[in-house]
Amino acid sequence: YPLPEDPPHLFPDYLVSHPEDILTKYKFPKDFLFGWATAAQQWEGAVKDGGKGPTVWDWASRFPGFIVDNTTSDVGDLGYYLYKQDLARLAALGGNVYSFSMFWTRIFPFGSADSPVNHEGLKFYKDLIDYSWSQGIEPVVTLFHWDTPLALQLEYGAFASERIIDDFVNYAETVFRAYNGTVHKWVTFNEPVVFCSQGGYPINSTFPEGLNSTVYPYTCSYHLTLAHAKTVRRFRELNIQGEIAFKSDNFVGVPWRGYDNKEDLYAVERHAAYQIGVFAEPIYVSGDWPEILKNDLPPEILPRFSDEQKELIKGTADFFAIDGYRVGYVTAPPNGFDACIANISDPLWPVCNQVNFYEPTPYAWGFADFADKRVPWLQNTWQFLRQSLSDLLRRYPTDGGIYLSEFGFAEPGENEQPYKYIATTDTKRELYFLSYLGEVLKAIVEDGTPVKGTFGWSLVDKLLRISQSFEWNNGFSVRFGVQYVDFNSPTLERTFKRSAIAMSKFWNSHRNGDGHGKD
Ligand code: NOJ
Repeated sequence: YPLPEDPPHLFPDYLVSHPEDILTKYKFPKDFLFGWATAAQQWEGAVKDGGKGPTVWDWASRFPGFIVDNTTSDVGDLGYYLYKQDLARLAALGGNVYSFSMFWTRIFPFGSADSPVNHEGLKFYKDLIDYSWSQGIEPVVTLFHWDTPLALQLEYGAFASERIIDDFVNYAETVFRAYNGTVHKWVTFNEPVVFCSQGGYPINSTFPEGLNSTVYPYTCSYHLTLAHAKTVRRFRELNIQGEIAFKSDNFVGVPWRGYDNKEDLYAVERHAAYQIGVFAEPIYVSGDWPEILKNDLPPEILPRFSDEQKELIKGTADFFAIDGYRVGYVTAPPNGFDACIANISDPLWPVCNQVNFYEPTPYAWGFADFADKRVPWLQNTWQFLRQSLSDLLRRYPTDGGIYLSEFGFAEPGENEQPYKYIATTDTKRELYFLSYLGEVLKAIVEDGTPVKGTFGWSLVDKLLRISQSFEWNNGFSVRFGVQYVDFNSPTLERTFKRSAIAMSKFWNSHRNGDGHGKD
């Protein structure tokens, strides 16, 4: 694998590369998909309505303390009832795509293949899909965004058991048959690394699947990969129209001390193997786990795929989807321990020492001070976006191009601000999104990278109220939306933030190119 030779460009001030002035001549190709994303557990609410069954989150959030601020996603953004408004507002911004996930338990309240299907749930998603098209918006459907059916968790441990595979394939098949022809892009699993790793740490089981097990992350990964592969095989056997893939967690890291530092390059490889390759390598490249994982982990920890399974898995994705919020610098740890430091809670799931995950905000999953004070040039992290996008496609080749399937920005303290303030002074989020979009344009036009669409996270606020993962200690205070949601108003009123308007303007003045990204 050829690594880029040049060190990253260094810019002292991220405002310098504001895209508005440099990109007037570039345009997105005609079929480019521009829009926003949500996920069922964070957006729909109505968790007991319409025949929906409980998920592990519906259940675990009822235990005091499980969610830091003891909130639940019972109400969420009330998307179940307000979807027409949300789609109309997305259309008003000029968006042509909406990426959302379906609640498995809205379709199978008890999850399993031998349990009844909920026709009211099927009808809801049909209405959502139809209404979406009526607004000129293409619906992109994710089958699983962490909303494990409670019944399956209690019965057999869900992803800890191979029984999950057939139950998931059955759910997926039901959905494919119901919406064939009306959905053209499908995603099986959202961010499987987060999902499987958060559910199994012995100390840090932040997801409700937590099983006090060091092995769980790997059995989960094994079953999830097989469930993905079987689902895609089924999708193809049934001749379902459109394309399918999964949503990957992370960008390839940047070596902290530069591309000529061998130790850091090795750390980058380890980081990539554990954060991306664990799923992308078998699915896009070899049918098997990355060598690094196989060398680290004995079969009792990481179950091995049989030759037949490898054949099943290899080639089961039609495009690449990356949730690329940020790019991380990766380095060998100071003590030299195997070029990676072990995760504090699970020595068997090592995470390379990520010196920094940069976001241009004080809110950066705990790393921002470091970024702002010591390494100001990290403030141009989006400069690495182009490199990362082409890097991913080189490592995990696919004919279907690449989607920035989530990217977004949360600002601390936003929750405490009156919405009018946020609606007018939301400049950091504006800068984040415009910079990313600008770099995507350059990736298309200057690098020829086939970026097919960008789905901003998120269409509306407050999508983290159920999440304990990276943001767990931020509880209620974190808002990711480009629309403010007033949770004190009975109608959960939405207000466009400055970033929504800015993205919309940028899109409207850069859309409809000639297919090569240029006028
Ligand atoms: C990615 C996840 O898919 C989403 O659910 C979460 O809210 C965002 N990251 C923000 O952390």
